[in-house]
Amino acid sequence: MKSSEIRQAFIKYFSDNGHTEVPSSSLVPHDDPTLMYTNAGMNQFKDCFLGAETRPYRRAVTCQKVMRIAGKHNDFENVGVTARHHTFFEMLGNFSFGDYFKADAIKYGWEFVTKVLGIPASKLWVTIFEKDDEAGKLWADLTSVDKQRIIRLGEAENFWTMGDTGPCGPCTEIHYFCGSDESKNTEAMLKAGDSSFLEIWNLVFMQFDRNASGKLTPLPKPSVDTGMGLERVAAVLQNARSNYDSDLLRPIISTCESLSGHRYEGSRFDAPHHGADTQYVHDVAMRVIADHSRAMAAIIADGVLPGSDGRAYILRRIMRRAIRHGQSLGLREPFLRATTGTVISILGDTYPELLQRRDVIERVVEAEERKFHETLDSGLGILKREVEKLSSSEQFPGATAFLLHDTYGFPLDLTQDALKSFGRTIDVAGFEEQMQAQKSRSRDDRKSQNLSFSTLQITVAPTKFLGYDSTEAECTLLQHFPGATADECALVFDSTPFYAESGGQVADTGSIAFGSGKAAVTLEVIDVQKVQDKFFVHYCKAAISTAVDSLLNKKAHLVIDTARRNEIRAHHSATHLVHAALRKVLGTHVKQAGSKVDDSSLRFDYSHFEPVTSVQLSEIQSIVNAEIRENHAVVTKEMPVEEAMKSGAMALFGEKYGSHVRVVHIGPRSLELCGGTHVTRSGDIGFVTIAHEAGIAAGVRRIECLAGRAAYEALVHDQQGQEALASLLKGSREQILDKVEKLQSRVRSLETELEQTRGKLAASAVDDLAKEVHTTPKGIKIISRKVEAADNDTLRSMVDKLRVSIGSGVVVLGAPQGDACVIVAGVTSDLTGSVHAGKLIKAAAEVGGGKGGGRPDFAQAGGVNPAQLSASLAKILEMLS
Ligand code: SER
Repeated sequence: MKSSEIRQAFIKYFSDNGHTEVPSSSLVPHDDPTLMYTNAGMNQFKDCFLGAETRPYRRAVTCQKVMRIAGKHNDFENVGVTARHHTFFEMLGNFSFGDYFKADAIKYGWEFVTKVLGIPASKLWVTIFEKDDEAGKLWADLTSVDKQRIIRLGEAENFWTMGDTGPCGPCTEIHYFCGSDESKNTEAMLKAGDSSFLEIWNLVFMQFDRNASGKLTPLPKPSVDTGMGLERVAAVLQNARSNYDSDLLRPIISTCESLSGHRYEGSRFDAPHHGADTQYVHDVAMRVIADHSRAMAAIIADGVLPGSDGRAYILRRIMRRAIRHGQSLGLREPFLRATTGTVISILGDTYPELLQRRDVIERVVEAEERKFHETLDSGLGILKREVEKLSSSEQFPGATAFLLHDTYGFPLDLTQDALKSFGRTIDVAGFEEQMQAQKSRSRDDRKSQNLSFSTLQITVAPTKFLGYDSTEAECTLLQHFPGATADECALVFDSTPFYAESGGQVADTGSIAFGSGKAAVTLEVIDVQKVQDKFFVHYCKAAISTAVDSLLNKKAHLVIDTARRNEIRAHHSATHLVHAALRKVLGTHVKQAGSKVDDSSLRFDYSHFEPVTSVQLSEIQSIVNAEIRENHAVVTKEMPVEEAMKSGAMALFGEKYGSHVRVVHIGPRSLELCGGTHVTRSGDIGFVTIAHEAGIAAGVRRIECLAGRAAYEALVHDQQGQEALASLLKGSREQILDKVEKLQSRVRSLETELEQTRGKLAASAVDDLAKEVHTTPKGIKIISRKVEAADNDTLRSMVDKLRVSIGSGVVVLGAPQGDACVIVAGVTSDLTGSVHAGKLIKAAAEVGGGKGGGRPDFAQAGGVNPAQLSASLAKILEMLS
């Protein structure tokens, strides 16, 4: 069966049995901060299991894209080495949300595997959780599985949890005997984890919710979550030696073969991975590239770009590891475009986002590859040399691994992976230590304080934000903490008009007053941070004291700095207009990669793959300012997240959005999900000017702009600069260009004149010098003098001319240049047999603390101390005598 047929058969079987087909969710979990990447089919249904969400259906079937690369489920290390592990794979799953439970899950599972797929029962085994008697009985009563082949295993194997927290429960797994040696088709071998057995399907009986301390709370309704690895089933049904020989992966391996000219042998797995076994090294490399190409294509298609932290860094690690393995296949030129191209041709029909974003995938992989190639060779060279220095038992030093990470862009796991072929491990603790040291060097006090706040138990109700409509309010103080320094404190109120730093927008500042008149206590608010996404912590310039203590549960008057807020608003709304203009001018592949908005500037990072021309920049600036002059009303609306997405609102990939979101609409083309504060009409922005635009990483660029007052001030500053320049040039601002051009041409003609004059002076100096010939006792004619020469060339040409006029002899001239002196020596060709200009000059330079050397007939020295110039020249005379 082809993999596409297996997918279809699965969906059809479960649809026929009353399941609703639900599309795969993105690899970037939109609503789950506990997950880096989607790691199971059940992720998108997590809230259904927890009873927090109900859907119009109680049975679902999916084919889900998943990644097993971070957190609890991480197979990164195994990829390439084993026949069956992947970072990215497709998971076929059927789900029941409080509908059917164990009996039907087991019946469906068995029927699908044996009847629809036609896998013989003689090849199948099932495992159950050791305490789950019910599952054992159901398997025995409801299916034809051999009772001897219902095996009990412990929690590690047969109790499934999504992560450290979340829905979980006992599970039962279907295993396939894929070995050729029938004597291994036994319970003992299965229990020993022998590679003759392949787990193909996991049926989880979701019964509990696990909290952070490990406590299990029963779910409202027992449910079912199953997951079958498509690649594994395809390998079984296609009689392939491994997943890599299935129709999902083999074409990518073939691409590697034709790019590298190496053959894929592909029958050995789990072997020691040493450099001498070239065929095995090549096999592993092709498998890694095949797996990772799928992962990177799928991740990029879901909107992630490689970067330096979190999800983006995981993508970078995957890409760099693939590139490193490409190098071991001898691939010197970028190759990921070809391998991801094969991925798109295999998976594009099932996941159309791959086809839609082909262009982005190609550009991102190529940019990353070019970037990493710049340092890959040097990094690997350092790695090799370091290994050679180690004694046989020594670990690879953490400090070198850190250098490779920090300077050469080697993720730790890439270094670990590369060291496998040398049989070495890294001193990871040493590496971590260096990392920590670097972090603490760069950590800012308040930020670290925030980290500790994020773990604080704030026990009060979430803070109500009033700042969209108000700039001041009466609010009650509910809790307080000491601040980052002794003269700061941090306060939490029931509500607040202060915006807390988020979504790239800085926090409001302002003041808080308790009481009034003489008895009033006024605190200055210098920063506001959100903790656990719901408490607004106000950092104030005031020592926490008993005075503050007595204010608990008292009302205070909170006022933000409105003028500053207005400037922040202008910059934030301007950011939306800039974003929309970028997409209009550069293309819709432009996606926000980060932003920073404050009262004096805005910074917007975005995906784009080539330099932006000055023509494009002025077009962007002109569009933005036209939108401002149109004076559009800025409309903000709360709506369900699905509705917002449907309306085409720009959202940040991977950003956590609640079920209701705020959508900000400005003019005809800007519609964004955004929690920030905005102007009322676009005209309030005033004016926007682009201050700077440049690339900051592979495929990511940054534009910086000024809006409102800051833009006006920049303009005034420029005008004043021009005025000053104009008055310096004794003209008007309009005449500056013309005057500067004239100045430049005058400078050019003066330079020519100067050069000619110098030439004449040098010629007459040469004439004078030619008269100063001495003869050494050995009869060698010599001219040796300190002269004033403007530059090296003049000095050299003087020596040349004197060499001609002297006929036979040695010419040595020294001249001060800057802080040091230069000495040039020339020897006529008849004498070079006995006198070596290079040697003369070297010795002379040493006397004067400089350095020099050259040919037998012509040489030069520099760096000679001016006070020693005479001594240096004397040294030459002495040598010649
Ligand atoms: N959630 C289970 C797994 O991922 C079954 O889908 O294995």
